[in-house]
Amino acid sequence: MAYIAIPRKYRPQKFSEVTGQEFITETLRNAVATGRVAHAYIFAGPRGVGKTTTARIVAKALNCENPENGEPCNQCPQCVEITKGSHPDVIEIDAASNRGVDQIRELRESVHYAPVKGKRKVYIIDEFHMLTKEAFNALLKTLEEPPEHAVFILATTELDRIPPTILSRCQKFIFRRIPEETILQTLKEICQKEGVEWEEEALRLIAISSEGCMRDAESLLDQAIALGQGKVETKAVSEFLGILTGKEVRELLSLGFKGEKEELKKRLKKLEIEGYNPVYVTKQLIELIEREFLSNSEFSEEELTAAFEIVSRGYRELQTHPYPFTLLFFTLYKLSYFKEIKKLSELLNGNLTVTTEEKPAEKKTKNGNSTIKAFIQKVEDKGSFVEVYPKNFTAYQMLKTKTEKLKELFSKNVKLIEPEVKEASRKKISPESEQKIDSMIKILNAKILELRPKGKDENSNS
Ligand SMILES: Nc1ncnc2c1ncn2[C@@H]1O[C@H](COP(=O)(O)OP(=O)(O)OP(=O)(O)O)[C@@H](O)[C@H]1O
Ligand SMILES: [Mg+2]
Ligand SMILES: [Zn+2]
Repeated sequence: MAYIAIPRKYRPQKFSEVTGQEFITETLRNAVATGRVAHAYIFAGPRGVGKTTTARIVAKALNCENPENGEPCNQCPQCVEITKGSHPDVIEIDAASNRGVDQIRELRESVHYAPVKGKRKVYIIDEFHMLTKEAFNALLKTLEEPPEHAVFILATTELDRIPPTILSRCQKFIFRRIPEETILQTLKEICQKEGVEWEEEALRLIAISSEGCMRDAESLLDQAIALGQGKVETKAVSEFLGILTGKEVRELLSLGFKGEKEELKKRLKKLEIEGYNPVYVTKQLIELIEREFLSNSEFSEEELTAAFEIVSRGYRELQTHPYPFTLLFFTLYKLSYFKEIKKLSELLNGNLTVTTEEKPAEKKTKNGNSTIKAFIQKVEDKGSFVEVYPKNFTAYQMLKTKTEKLKELFSKNVKLIEPEVKEASRKKISPESEQKIDSMIKILNAKILELRPKGKDENSNS
């Protein structure tokens, strides 16, 4: 058998096979089943999401000799001919190729003749917005008083170019982009039917790059199958599409968090040279962040929430930025600031055991003495008592609750010396403030720069 391209081979032939447009297909199926079909429909929406496909199914369902619950049987002579595209009562007009004037005029005359073979005459006008003004007007007359047997389906990718006079006479259906998961599922099913082996991630990359357009996804799968000689592999697909693998995305995120700017720059430069699309890269980052957030991640929840905010903001700016890869570089690098702020918040919170990590072993000692010592800067013996100087204000607060222990430790009375600190940092942080800090971390992204301690990166300025 001759080779048929996947999008054609797997064009849905029933309402139930059209994916991602359930609301529309269910409404239409019901309309056919109950005999409440309108005379004119507008199918609007992006490319390759099922407008023409659904229009043909409507034509079939209306003419089918044995329809079941509004679905065409796909067996009877009417169905077979419509599928082949040779049914005399299903008339497809491509408004883009000749702007339709002649055909619309012809249509206006022929529309009144009864169907030749079937029950209804179905006119499918594709790229409907391309019609000339005269053609629109010619059509308008027909739409005003359509003969009982005629149904018009006007498909367009640009709803806003349709005159309101026409819009008001039609029932409108807005087709949606198809969700990535739905596309992925469809691609898997096709691979199965084709007897092709696949890697899940490879198909996911195809789904990402098709941006909700099923036709593109299926064409890309076709190419990927040819490329891999029957096997769809992540590495090959990633290079062919210019989309990163999951591992590569994770590495980028990790480099961002760690603030490894040279390596980050190197990677992004490479991607830029190899023609990777920064929009996809960013989308993949956002998806990874979400997946990490929902699973046991090496990154904390706070880190991931902040990362989500920062990268999403980057994504919005990306669309109009003259140097998208530079933007991406700084977006990722900003993730490293988050650690600084996190430390700051812990510090303010007096959570010193977390931030002073020089001697982690000491933290765990059962005998509290070495922990206590870790808070002490110096001790002065004053004869009858000792003066204890805490390392900082938080340590002071901590030691104040441990005076008995201190006495025990030095076998003397103890005078705890309050360290000099600024008023601001003396206050204990309340849970409310702590929450505020957390939400600040989320909102801050753009302001983090200002908060950054000076002289942090004095040795590198690339
Ligand atoms: N919702 C869908 N479910 C399953 N397959 C789909 C869907 N949408 C599109 N396809 C696949 O993509 C191919 C093209 O779809 P179709 O011609 O219906 O798109 P369209 O919306 O009319 O696009 P265009 O605006 O470019 O004309 C179909 O043959 C089918 O294989
Ligand atoms: Mg179409
Ligand atoms: Zn049939």
